Amino acid sequence: MIPIARPDVGPEEAAAVAEVLASGMIAQGKRTAEFEQRWAEYVGVKHAIAVSNGTVAEIAIFAGLGIGPGDEVITVSHTFAATANSILFTGATPVFVDIEPDTYLIDAARIEAAITPRTRAICPVHLFGLVADMDMIQAIAERHGLAVVEDACQAHGATFRGRRAGSFGHGAFSLYATKNMTTGEGGLITTDDDRLADWIRLYRNQGMRTRYDFEMLGFNFRMTDIQAVIGLVQLGKLDRNTARRQAIAARYDEAFADLAVGLPVTPDGRTHVYHQYTVDVGPARDAIVAELRANGVGADIYYPLPVHRQAYIQERGLHADLPVTDRAATRTLALPMHPGLTDEEQATVIRELRAAVARHAGEDDGRIAAALGSAALAPESAAR
Ligand SMILES: Cc1ncc(COP(=O)(O)O)c(C=O)c1O
Repeated sequence: MIPIARPDVGPEEAAAVAEVLASGMIAQGKRTAEFEQRWAEYVGVKHAIAVSNGTVAEIAIFAGLGIGPGDEVITVSHTFAATANSILFTGATPVFVDIEPDTYLIDAARIEAAITPRTRAICPVHLFGLVADMDMIQAIAERHGLAVVEDACQAHGATFRGRRAGSFGHGAFSLYATKNMTTGEGGLITTDDDRLADWIRLYRNQGMRTRYDFEMLGFNFRMTDIQAVIGLVQLGKLDRNTARRQAIAARYDEAFADLAVGLPVTPDGRTHVYHQYTVDVGPARDAIVAELRANGVGADIYYPLPVHRQAYIQERGLHADLPVTDRAATRTLALPMHPGLTDEEQATVIRELRAAVARHAGEDDGRIAAALGSAALAPESAAR
């Protein structure tokens, strides 16, 4: 099976880990501090804080902003559940707004209608490697005095008008194995806010600034130096690997240009880092994914059941009407996308997707024709 993702880890990471192990200093230490410094420079912010994963990165930001019970955070349902979960874990309520049909990102034009007196923050998700419309989001946030928390877990290095993801508000990144850079598990927080950075550093470390002096109630959200040195090597490879992802995306774009499918779009002024290459293949999506997988192509679905339709969210009474999200959940698939994808593997993916789409061609039209056919028999209903 050609995998959808494959971490680019090898001898350099192994050598770095061996060095840390030999040093005897394996928990959070100076290599973690070095990783944080390098990431802050890369993103273009004052502070980066390394933590155990992307979920706790988000929890720490929301908690550090003082967001809690009674507060609302505006976000999307078309995302990994961790976005909403991190809001829920603070005691606050996620309020879901719909996405744009072409970018799959938060539809910023819908945000203001969702603002209430309880709204404290907007949390755009830079899904699949593309930054949301930060011009509009920042303008709305400023107008209403709201914080901006960027879920940049899938957007390492992506830019909007020359600025990197995670530099607009407070940013959360995941370093999970399948992400554009990885430490196995891991997370990074970015911010220009000195107070928030200091608070999160304490929160990450049981509230301790100095040993056994607990200034506040904290957690253990620390990263290890073993992870940090992997992260340093990964950061050194990030731009090269992003360029490779972009080249793979360009080849997919060209190969599918004549197909009746929706391809990823990159609005002007943004760079896409293609954490995923997502295609709208229409209503036959599930059959197409099954056929691709049967033919050795590890296509996958992000995300088959939107967060607002998950039972644990509905049990909390968090109902939302999100037709564009629902539509994306039934029609889109993601193709293998990682820097190690070979040209031959990509040729197989292209051949198999073209063949699968051809086998199901017209199924959309078929439904429309069927609907028109019944309307033709009942012209009075067709007129409505
Ligand atoms: C959009 C999004 N948000 C949050 C997370 C949570 O990150 P982690 O899995 O590192 O906790 C992920 C990644 O898994 C993600 O893709």
